[in-house]
Amino acid sequence: MILITGGAGFIGGNFVHHWFERQAAAGRVTDEKLVVFDKLTYAGNPNTIAAQLRDGRATLIQADIADREAVKAALQAHRPRAILHFAAESHVDRSIHGPAEFIHTNMVGTFSLLEEARAYWGSLTGADKDAFRFLHVSTDEVYGSLGENDPAFSETTAYAPNSPYSASKAGSDHLVRAYHHTYGFPTLTTNCSNNYGPYHFPEKLIPLMILNALEGKPLPVYGDGLNIRDWLYVRDHCEAICQVLDKGTLGETYNVGGINEIRNIDVVTTICRKLDELRPRADGSKYESLITYVKDRPGHDRRYAIDPTKIQRDIGWRPAETFESGINKTVRWYLENTAWIDTVRSGAYRDWIAQNYAERA
Ligand code: NAD
Ligand code: TYD
Repeated sequence: MILITGGAGFIGGNFVHHWFERQAAAGRVTDEKLVVFDKLTYAGNPNTIAAQLRDGRATLIQADIADREAVKAALQAHRPRAILHFAAESHVDRSIHGPAEFIHTNMVGTFSLLEEARAYWGSLTGADKDAFRFLHVSTDEVYGSLGENDPAFSETTAYAPNSPYSASKAGSDHLVRAYHHTYGFPTLTTNCSNNYGPYHFPEKLIPLMILNALEGKPLPVYGDGLNIRDWLYVRDHCEAICQVLDKGTLGETYNVGGINEIRNIDVVTTICRKLDELRPRADGSKYESLITYVKDRPGHDRRYAIDPTKIQRDIGWRPAETFESGINKTVRWYLENTAWIDTVRSGAYRDWIAQNYAERA
């Protein structure tokens, strides 16, 4: 049994799919189940993992990681061999509008989870205790912003978070590090670059652009559009997590990225061209005509880039997808999965879009 926090979100949900498909591909019987521990915030959607919940391979506990009694009860009831900690508030723009939730979940929540996980681990004995792992899923944003010619982030790059989101993730990383150093708690940490793929909540760049384009709405590019992110297909990240769980050295951190640095404007034009090919506009115009430059994000990090040498060398992980193949799969997924899209675009979603973009006009 493995317990996954945030397993109804974008990456956690993809991980649930990946976990069982990986076992099936290896010809293994799916006998190790997943317990998804998720508060189901606006970003959590049980529909993402509906099939696994329906057939009993996954179980959902709806609770807050900061609720220690709920965490304790889940650990005692399910006795996991590992905890994979995905749960977080994850959107930089929301952290600018309202940082409190980020401190609550990313810092207080991670602290609460660590405390209960450490108590649970302390109650284990022998092989069960030796085998237990706490894998903390984090981001490259903790390293701050790179200049044009700076080397990519390595595991020894100094932390320099710039947004409330990245600062709260940096705080959680430090707690995880300290629990290993102080208590010998068996931790692993991954710091990954920007993910994209199916089930991505449409407040983030790639799904927002796909859906706005399909509806003929403006494609809002912040600032000059020349900020750079290092894009990784979400299933490649999920596979990296599986491999770090199996082979990672306790107390270590691993940077995960696909060496795919792309400027935002190039991401958006790539999506537009893919849509021109797959779903041409009725009036014959190009989707690129919808691109609109809007007011920049305050404190907008210029460039992120990951140096994945360590995970490649020590773990043997490499991404399977290029940006070309990954974006092709992603755009097709959004064209084919309108039912999932409808379930996530509730009134609260529309309120957020109105708030974030009204002030950028
Ligand atoms: P997401 O926002 O899509 O999902 C977060 C999930 O956590 C949701 O299901 C939500 O309901 C749940 N959650 C939030 N607060 C909670 C709480 N207090 N208790 C329990 N559950 C709670 O995020 P994501 O993009 O899937 O990111 C997952 C993890 O990966 C995060 O830790 C994020 O920092 C990290 N990460 C994300 C990216 C990326 O590009 N999306 C890149 C690197 C690392
Ligand atoms: P985002 O998906 O929010 O991820 P992050 O800020 O964590 O990297 O944004 C990716 C990039 O796209 C970032 O440089 C901000 C930019 N962006 C836009 O230009 N327009 C938008 O509407 C959004 C949401 C993001």
